[in-house]
Amino acid sequence: MAKRPGPIAEENPFLRGTDLAPVTALSEKLGLSPGTRYEEQHDTDGEDVSEESQRSGDESEEDEVEVDESVQEEMAKLEDIFEERGLRYRMIDRIGEGTFSTVYKAEDLHYEYYQNDWDIEPKDALKWTSPPFKRRRNGESQSSTTLVDSQSQRRQRQPRYVAIKKIYVTSSPMRIQNELELLHDLRGCKAVCPLITAFRHQDQVVAILPHFRHQDFRMFYRGMTVFDIKIYFRSLFEALAAVHKHGIIHRDIKPTNFLYDIDRQRGVLVDFGLAEREGSDSSHCLCQDHPTSRKTKIESSKARNQPIPTGFPKNDPRPSRRANRAGTRGFRAPEVLLKCTAQTTKIDIWSVGVIMLTILAQRFPFFNSADDIEAMIEIATIFGQQKMRQCAMLHGTMFECTIPTVGKHGFALSQIVHWSSARAPDEGEDPDPEVREAVKFLEQCLELDPRKRMSARAALASDFLAKETLSDTEPEEMDVL
Ligand SMILES: Nc1ncnc2c1ncn2[C@@H]1O[C@H](COP(=O)(O)OP(=O)(O)O)[C@@H](O)[C@H]1O
Ligand SMILES: [Mg+2]
Repeated sequence: MAKRPGPIAEENPFLRGTDLAPVTALSEKLGLSPGTRYEEQHDTDGEDVSEESQRSGDESEEDEVEVDESVQEEMAKLEDIFEERGLRYRMIDRIGEGTFSTVYKAEDLHYEYYQNDWDIEPKDALKWTSPPFKRRRNGESQSSTTLVDSQSQRRQRQPRYVAIKKIYVTSSPMRIQNELELLHDLRGCKAVCPLITAFRHQDQVVAILPHFRHQDFRMFYRGMTVFDIKIYFRSLFEALAAVHKHGIIHRDIKPTNFLYDIDRQRGVLVDFGLAEREGSDSSHCLCQDHPTSRKTKIESSKARNQPIPTGFPKNDPRPSRRANRAGTRGFRAPEVLLKCTAQTTKIDIWSVGVIMLTILAQRFPFFNSADDIEAMIEIATIFGQQKMRQCAMLHGTMFECTIPTVGKHGFALSQIVHWSSARAPDEGEDPDPEVREAVKFLEQCLELDPRKRMSARAALASDFLAKETLSDTEPEEMDVL
């Protein structure tokens, strides 16, 4: 059995162009002519499949989706590229359009010709069997013997799906290489989407990942109980603990980058496009100093001893500050907004906190700022001016705000959750102890000082996410649909 070429190995197809070892033409076995398009290979019975079920990944029905003509054209172009490289993927549909890529679902027709060390779902595959293909209704040109042969062959094996990530040609090569290298480093990490292979065709880089069934966060977050929340965050923190153990900051933690399957109660982390190695792009920041030396430096600073100017100065003589700000609006940690030059893996924990606040407050998006200044004001509205000032000073900068709605002391997160959600207790009632426990956990994620903010490891060891309390829903036992 051949080992599928890895993306970063010596014979790296990404770097040198793919040259897969010739394999027996599976198309022959399946009775398909080379280059046959997906719509010709499959029988449909005219059943309507809703947009939601396409996206929700019910694999038993996904083969029968109706695909937009423009998407079919895009997929045909990709299939041509695969064809040239001896790769065989049956394109199914476009499943995601992110900021940096378009992602398609496809069936890996050469699955059993390779070692599939990346496959973390063999057990599930046995449980999640696809129903037999349906026969064509009206007179089709394909010979019935071929059709029956191909159907019975495919019935014998479980179709294996992949996600084909077509990275936009406008992305910088450094960025693309960084994403693929980090994914390669993280192979074998629990709950991190493995990379099967990747290659370049002219200026187009394509990454092949296992396809993960998941549902749109917006469809389920409002109905999550505290127990559901625990399972969701245990899965997310397991992924993050593995990533952080490798000294990697994901930088873009948000619901669309954590593919969660509510049935299997398990998620995988995807999209390492903005990820970086901790310390790779950092320089000294005051937050790394001992508190006494920091205090001395701040007290003797010029800015501290000058009157606070109002409005924006026309000529700002202050030296500009440069720091990595990569991430998504609303999920950026305060130290990112304050341009801390020594950012750590803790920025990911803040983003997890924002997801949790969204779920508890039942509002998405929770933060909705147009830029970093507005984002800072949103955070300041919750935490108050005093804490924001301290937070800014920690990174050697100042926070001043004259907006009347930004109070001195802000609000407790429990108040925010109660005001904005249906989780609020009725008047005179004590808050639900489970919600109280969840908010206590949330406070440790949304801690302004990154050094005091909980780590992923500490989160997993916390009482809130204790495995024992969740153990009766371990995946092995709960997959009984
Ligand atoms: N392995 C996968 N399995 C299923 N869907 C995926 C997979 N990878 C990505 N997707 C879908 O494609 C979307 C965009 O992918 P992502 O890697 O986040 O790209 P971008 O860098 O463009 O944001 C995801 O939000 C998800 O819906
Ligand atoms: Mg993404």
